[in-house]
Amino acid sequence: MILVTGATGRVGRHVVGQLLQAHEEVRPVSRNPERAALPAGTAAVRGDLAEPESLRTALVGVDRVFIFPAAAPLDRFLELARDAGVRSVVLLSSSAAADEEPNAIGRMHLMHERAVAASRRSPTPTPTPTPTPTTPPRR
Ligand SMILES: NC(=O)c1ccc[n+]([C@@H]2O[C@H](COP(=O)([O-])OP(=O)(O)OC[C@H]3O[C@@H](n4cnc5c(N)ncnc54)[C@H](OP(=O)(O)O)[C@@H]3O)[C@@H](O)[C@H]2O)c1
Repeated sequence: MILVTGATGRVGRHVVGQLLQAHEEVRPVSRNPERAALPAGTAAVRGDLAEPESLRTALVGVDRVFIFPAAAPLDRFLELARDAGVRSVVLLSSSAAADEEPNAIGRMHLMHERAVAASRRSPTPTPTPTPTPTTPPRR
């Protein structure tokens, strides 16, 4: 399942459409799902990158994420995504991030690129081992 943020935007609509054409399972995100008007066969779920906890439920069962660059920092969303089992992230960035002296837009994209890079380096949480059932000794 692929979570697509920014799914109602100029870029995100194409991402959703092309993933559906490729027969992928898509879960589009919008802050106003009732106004999302997405292609038949898919429905948006509510979520706001500025309030990462609002995406906790939307992340259940998701293994890949497309991230639209909203202004809010991504660190907490990336933590939630990793904890939910997401293993692959695609970030929509901009060439403005590579400018020698990036403007405000470039700096925002750079912040997101660094957050994604840092999340790749942080260790994956180790699952808590479940005790192995043992057979009681015969008397
Ligand atoms: N357009 C391009 O060709 C292009 C190319 C490279 C980079 N970019 C970068 O991409 C961004 C703009 O993309 P766009 O043109 O597709 O945008 P857009 O058409 O303006 O759409 C904005 C999208 O972002 C969503 N959104 C906004 N704030 C959000 C939040 N806090 N949480 C979750 N979703 C949020 C909106 O969803 P809802 O309103 O439904 O919640 C909507 O789907 C800019 O940062 C730009 O630098 C754009």
